Amino acid sequence: MDPVPSPTHSGITLNVNGEKHALSVDHRTTLLDALRERLDLTGTKKGCDQGQCGACTVLVDGRRTVACLQFAVAAEGREITTIEGVAEGERLHPVQQAFLDLDGYQCGYCTPGQICSAIAVIEEHAAGWPSAATDDVRPEAGPPPLTPDEIRERMSGNLCRCGAYVAITQAVARAAVARTAPAAQTTADREAAA
Ligand code: FES
Ligand code: FES
Repeated sequence: MDPVPSPTHSGITLNVNGEKHALSVDHRTTLLDALRERLDLTGTKKGCDQGQCGACTVLVDGRRTVACLQFAVAAEGREITTIEGVAEGERLHPVQQAFLDLDGYQCGYCTPGQICSAIAVIEEHAAGWPSAATDDVRPEAGPPPLTPDEIRERMSGNLCRCGAYVAITQAVARAAVARTAPAAQTTADREAAA
């Protein structure tokens, strides 16, 4: 913590992956830089640093956010989840497992953001949120089928320079199915049972 009161810095507490971190930040510090440079949580990537690529996507109170466009001071008191916090111990999140099983990446740089985004996409879809690709947006119509077009539209804020989009789309679709059928076996389950 900065012991000297300053017009340019504030002491804040960030709640990241269930742990509280007290730190002093320049008011201009983005959440992305606070995570990477101050808390050593380098799983969240910096691509464009201007809200265009989605590499820095994290979850803030369960909703996806590009951390490069959010000031760290504005994230105080919120529940922040980064890629380091989505697994349960050794058990990968179903979206992580689907990306692994279906090779939803090449270089992997965009992958943490893709996975965080996909986790929220699946919840948004299950909650009935329409997208620009949804034909029938009436509330009574319920969630639209999670077609490849729906997934592509909902994931369109996350760019992949390697062009791994086909496998990413498949991985999101598989993870969405796993959400509704949690008993479905993953690779980890099968290996654990072997
Ligand atoms: S680094 Fe934040 S959107 Fe590209
Ligand atoms: S896997 Fe390389 S940028 Fe997406």
